[in-house]
Amino acid sequence: MESVNSLIPDDAQKTLIFFVNGKKVIEENPDPEWTLLFYLRKKLLLTGTKYGCGEGGCGACTVMISQYSKIKDSIKYPLYM
Ligand code: FES
Repeated sequence: MESVNSLIPDDAQKTLIFFVNGKKVIEENPDPEWTLLFYLRKKLLLTGTKYGCGEGGCGACTVMISQYSKIKDSIKYPLYM
């Protein structure tokens, strides 16, 4: 089976920078096979988000994503990507 890593171009950005609960997180060479749920629980030790049904039906794994605008001094959410 082909690894997900082999599908990423060599010149692709290898660093993720984002904020979790207002704290800056810099992740070098993130593993594309990790889910956000796994990352939050295992890497950041934020265990409030749970694995429930695993099918999108219960909402236990829900994560709120928002964007802060310094110019407007406001938070935009939910952020649809
Ligand atoms: S685990 Fe149930 S919706 Fe994600």
